[in-house]
Amino acid sequence: MIGRRGFAEARRRQGIAELNTEVPFEIIPVWKQVDAGLTAELVELWGRTNAVPDPERAAIRARQAVCVARSGDGALCGVGTAVLSFPRRLRQPLYYYRQFFAPEFRGHKQAVPFFNRARQVLQDYTAAQATPESIGVLLELENQLLSARYTRAFEPAADSAFIGYSPRGLQLRVSYFEGATLHPLPPRPRPGAPA
Ligand SMILES: CC(C)(COP(=O)(O)OP(=O)(O)OC[C@H]1O[C@@H](n2cnc3c(N)ncnc32)[C@H](O)[C@@H]1OP(=O)(O)O)[C@@H](O)C(=O)NCCC(=O)NCCS
Repeated sequence: MIGRRGFAEARRRQGIAELNTEVPFEIIPVWKQVDAGLTAELVELWGRTNAVPDPERAAIRARQAVCVARSGDGALCGVGTAVLSFPRRLRQPLYYYRQFFAPEFRGHKQAVPFFNRARQVLQDYTAAQATPESIGVLLELENQLLSARYTRAFEPAADSAFIGYSPRGLQLRVSYFEGATLHPLPPRPRPGAPA
């Protein structure tokens, strides 16, 4: 666990001076509406910041955008992405969610508000489906600041519950959609059955 000093040091290394609570951007839902223009902007953002340097991988990831952040001058400065996953232990469909802010837009306490907005977009999307394709959002806390900050088993601000550690040793958290119900278990393959 790192204390305030640890946070400050980590931020200094990332080139972020102070936490600034001013909201630096607008959050815009884009789920299932990603066009060629936005794809190009995302490829540029992830390339410039070295977050997803390979343009082909970045273009694939762009299609998973749920919400983006735009600064006052309209520049793209953040994105949350989701892709349907089926964690083996849970055997239920969940959106695997990732979030990225350009370094100069970090430290404004917007990580959770942005996540909450993206989760709402995904929840509304599945609520309109006859059989919701996902029962919630799965988070793997890749960021040391976040895993040090969020140590409560249930975190009310992000409505997320700790469910264990990933094979990479990172915190896994789930935020279930309102009223979500479990999908029927697919039958286990019989031993010797063709794959
Ligand atoms: C992960 C990421 C989106 C978080 O955004 P951020 O702008 O850095 O985070 P925030 O400013 O919202 O801070 C998050 C929490 O850490 C706390 N925190 C951050 N810096 C702190 C500091 N110096 N001292 C004390 N607390 C601090 C904040 O207070 C906040 O908690 P709170 O909202 O409950 O108060 C951003 O850092 C990023 O894009 N990182 C690179 C990609 C990445 O690691 N993604 C994670 C995938 S899970």
